[in-house]
Amino acid sequence: MSAAEQELGEKDRRKLRQKIAALPRNTDLSNLGYAPQELKALREGMQYPQLEIETVDNAETSRLPKNGKEWIVLGIETSCDDTAAAVVCSDGRILGESVAKQDELNDLYGGVKPGAARDAHAQHIEATISNALEQAAISVEQLDAVAVTMGPGLELCLRVGFHAASALAVQHGIPFLSVHHLEAHCLVANMFRLASRQQEDPRAVAEDAFQEQAPAIVLLVSGGHCQLIRRDRQGHYEVYGGTVDDSIGEAFDKVARLLQLDVAGCGGGPAVERLAAEWALEGKASSLVFPIPMRKYRNCNMSYAGLKTAVRLAVEKGSFDKGEIAFAFQAAAVKHLMERTARAIEWSKSGAVDSGDHVRELTVCGGVASNQQLRSALQDIAQKHALDLVVPPVKYCTDNGVMIAWAAIEKIERYGLHTLQVDPRGLEVRARWPLGKYVGPGR
Ligand code: KG4
Ligand code: ZN
Repeated sequence: MSAAEQELGEKDRRKLRQKIAALPRNTDLSNLGYAPQELKALREGMQYPQLEIETVDNAETSRLPKNGKEWIVLGIETSCDDTAAAVVCSDGRILGESVAKQDELNDLYGGVKPGAARDAHAQHIEATISNALEQAAISVEQLDAVAVTMGPGLELCLRVGFHAASALAVQHGIPFLSVHHLEAHCLVANMFRLASRQQEDPRAVAEDAFQEQAPAIVLLVSGGHCQLIRRDRQGHYEVYGGTVDDSIGEAFDKVARLLQLDVAGCGGGPAVERLAAEWALEGKASSLVFPIPMRKYRNCNMSYAGLKTAVRLAVEKGSFDKGEIAFAFQAAAVKHLMERTARAIEWSKSGAVDSGDHVRELTVCGGVASNQQLRSALQDIAQKHALDLVVPPVKYCTDNGVMIAWAAIEKIERYGLHTLQVDPRGLEVRARWPLGKYVGPGR
């Protein structure tokens, strides 16, 4: 924010931003009748360099509870194959929500095809946003901010959401906030924790939810990502490990294809999980056991390429039931993840890497977090290490607009809206965007 803008009140600053947005870049302002202070602010605003999209390293206090203001934020998500938008209030209420899924396209191409996904996003983005706003019964002008996933993700797809969000923000003079997709997955569980606390104690204010945030190990498991991360009290992240090849979600999807499962309407992961559960119910004995990946590497990295190949070989052999293969694959995939998660908790507790306070929570997020086998295995680990297990409701484990709006709200509460809002003009999406510094061995 420019120095002159800082001197203005919130309302004037918003009006000023509207004016700046409407003016062509090289407009001569001197003869347009502006008051001196406004002219100064306009000049500075127009020259102001495009801001970097980085987390602001300034964990001062939240402004919201002190002012007693509630924030209403529109979140937009198009990083992969779901066009999603949601209007969320800082008290944890979802006011409006809309999503256009691309399952049929994925079925057609056997996965996400970036160009086709981009076209589908472009086709649905406007209606998705209007639906969310209509459901919330508010106009764009009533929003306190527009937040959008700026990365990481598929560049072509990210751009669709970004352009829609920046057009809204610029045209209506509303603060624009960029959101890190993985951070949004990590934070969304807090929203439900806040909502349930408020049900128990209606006086509970949002601030508590943020002050209370305990250091956590976050297991992020989706189609595009597979990471073990440590989040500290201030909302900073360290990466303990990640996949060296495929993500666990990709492996589930690939196995569904190898087994030629009908994935229509549910996706590869749930189809494999369902088949494995059905086979387990039959109670038959099986000699099929897949090796657990990477056991000789004592780090927190993961690998699913070898397991995928082992499944392919088992399918080609032709002597196993599909259900038997699905069951053995899921068992090995989950066990691998559990071993790495347990090590991450131990690292954090023993101070083996550059960590501060001991962790108190295990948070799981991303699409694969809806897998019931994984959830119950994590419950055991959390119990063993005396950690609280925090998992968002299944619907909010996969990509959604609510998590984007909520991540923006948490950041606003922590850092203040004015510190975070950026001028979207000239910004670019970030297909690659690490959430934090890698602190595992070999760093
Ligand atoms: O978070 P998400 O919606 O999108 C990405 O950012 O990738 O995750 C989608 C991934 C897919 O690979 C899907 O097969 C997997 O999550 N998934 C599951 C389950 N539900 C979704 N994998 C295993 N078991 C499930 N129940
Ligand atoms: Zn995701």
